[in-house]
Amino acid sequence: MTRTVYVNGEYLPENEAKVSIFDRAFLMADGVYEVTSVLDGKLIDFAGHANRLARSLSELDIPTPPEFDDLLEIHRKLVAENGVNEGMVYLQITRGAPGDRDFAFPPKDTRPTVVLFTQNKPGLADNPQAKVGIKVISIEDIRWGRRDIKTVQLLYPSMGKMMAKKAGCDDAWLVEDGFVTEGTSNNTYIVKGGKIITRNLSNDILHGITRAAVLKFAKEAQMEVEERPFTIEEAKQADEAFFTSASAFVMPVVEIDGAAIGGGKVGSVAPRLREIYLEESRKAAV
Ligand code: PDD
Repeated sequence: MTRTVYVNGEYLPENEAKVSIFDRAFLMADGVYEVTSVLDGKLIDFAGHANRLARSLSELDIPTPPEFDDLLEIHRKLVAENGVNEGMVYLQITRGAPGDRDFAFPPKDTRPTVVLFTQNKPGLADNPQAKVGIKVISIEDIRWGRRDIKTVQLLYPSMGKMMAKKAGCDDAWLVEDGFVTEGTSNNTYIVKGGKIITRNLSNDILHGITRAAVLKFAKEAQMEVEERPFTIEEAKQADEAFFTSASAFVMPVVEIDGAAIGGGKVGSVAPRLREIYLEESRKAAV
């Protein structure tokens, strides 16, 4: 099926959508993105994603595109046009295409490039992997120092994913100075003695929208939460491990570097958080 996608003010069939070879994201990874999930044809945590997008743009001094205030409408139109019931909307905004290559930023009046497309993923909420958990390896975190900005510099996370696949696993947890920062494309957690432990927010990790929601729901459900860095050794000794992201929601992790967590079985905290998250975010979806 040919999707309808959005490029700089136009809704087009995907095979007619084009961006310039001089686009700053193509030449310099000079762009930011968001992934918003869709359940029951509605957008999950849209306001959180829109706010983080505004922050990413501002941190990189990328001008706000003309359609910024219409982004909800654009998301909704694409979801409707493409008949997405469960899936994701991918959005990317770049510093635009100044017409040549130059390390210096282009003039401020260069139009940012805005691209959105949908990904249809039936069964996203009922993902069978959430019932059995996934396996991860640990790798060194060699990414740049502003991981709080959601940029399209995804080569290392992509390589990390391939390293995990090669090792017969599903994902990689990144480690810096002995402590886990986050997963290739998610925030990471362990559970010990009923307490949920996750790295505190800083420039070292992406401030996950799902993380914020899940921690809020956990506190509301009287679960204890501690925001601090943890090591792979500590994770191996934990009762449970899991990760969160807009595309996976809450996903249990049952093995790290070959060591079984919680006897290699999914525990009780991660599934409960997944259930609460799905229920509450469905209610608040727009
Ligand atoms: N990734 N950390 C990193 C490095 C991420 O790339 C992501 C999201 C997260 C979780 O953030 P959120 O809960 O806001 O999705 C944490 C998206 C899903 C992706 O790249 O596809």
